[in-house]
Amino acid sequence: MNIVLFGPPGVGKGTQGIQLSEALGIVQIAMGDLLRAAVKDGTVLGIKAKSFMDAGKLVPDNVVIGMIEERITAADAEAGFLLDGFPRNVAQAEALALMLDEHGLKIERVVFMSAPESMLLERLSGRLICKACGFGFHRHYSPPREEGCCDQCSGELYQRDDDREEVIVQRLSVYQEQTQPLLDYYSNSNGFSKIDAAGEVQDVYKKLEKVVQG
Ligand code: AP5
Repeated sequence: MNIVLFGPPGVGKGTQGIQLSEALGIVQIAMGDLLRAAVKDGTVLGIKAKSFMDAGKLVPDNVVIGMIEERITAADAEAGFLLDGFPRNVAQAEALALMLDEHGLKIERVVFMSAPESMLLERLSGRLICKACGFGFHRHYSPPREEGCCDQCSGELYQRDDDREEVIVQRLSVYQEQTQPLLDYYSNSNGFSKIDAAGEVQDVYKKLEKVVQG
C-alpha cells in the first residue's frame, strides 16, 4: 500500500508514520529526514537545502521532487511506501501524480492530520532527537529515561535547529500559505481521510490505523 501523510509541522507525522509503516511492512519516506541526511553528508543538494531549512522555508521544488522520485522507485519501496512531508504544496502534488503515473504506481490513502496551533508549538519546542539513531522524544510527553541520552542506543539527544521558536513560527506560516491548499487538492480524491491528532500518541494511532484499513 502507498500512503501520503500530511499536516502541519509537529502534528505527529513522523511519530505515527514510523509506527504505521512498520505495522504495514512498508518503507517510511520522510522528506525532512532525506534533506537532513543530505545536509549532514554535505552533498550539493544538502548545501543548497540548508539555508532554506534553517529559515523555516520550503526547499525549492526541483530539489525535493528529484529526491522523492529516486526514493519511491528504489527496491525497498516495492512493497509500498508512506510519504511523510511530501508533497507540501500543490506543484509537488501534481509532480507526484505525474511520476506515479509514469512508474505505474498509485496512492491508495491520503491522510490529513490536524491539531491546534498551540499544541504544535509545544510539541515542536519540546522535541528531542537522538544524534545516533534518530529516535524521537519529547521533554514532557515522552521524556528519555536518562536526561540527554537515548533509551534505544544511549546516543546523545539534540534539539533540531529549526525547532527554535522563531523558526517554528515561520514554518507554521509557510504551512498555512503553501501546504494547507493541499486539503482542497486531495479532499475529493479516493482514499482521503482527516484525523484529529490532538490526543495521546496511541489514541491517534488507533484513528490512523482505522482510516488506513478503510
Ligand atoms: P520536516 O522534518 O518534514 O518537518 P515538519 O513537516 O515541519 O514536521 P516535523 O518533523 O517537525 O513534525 P512531525 O509532524 O513529523 O511531528 P513529530 O512526529 O516529529 O521538514 C523540515 C524542513 O525540511 C522543512 O521546514 C523544509 O525546509 C524542508 N522540507 C521538508 N519537506 C519538504 C518538501 N516537501 N518541500 C520543500 N521543503 C521541504 O512530533 C513532534 C514532537 O511531538 C515530537 O517530540 C513527538 O514526540 C511529539 N508528539 C507527536 N505526537 C504526539 C502526541 N500525540 N502527543 C504528544 N506528543 C506528541
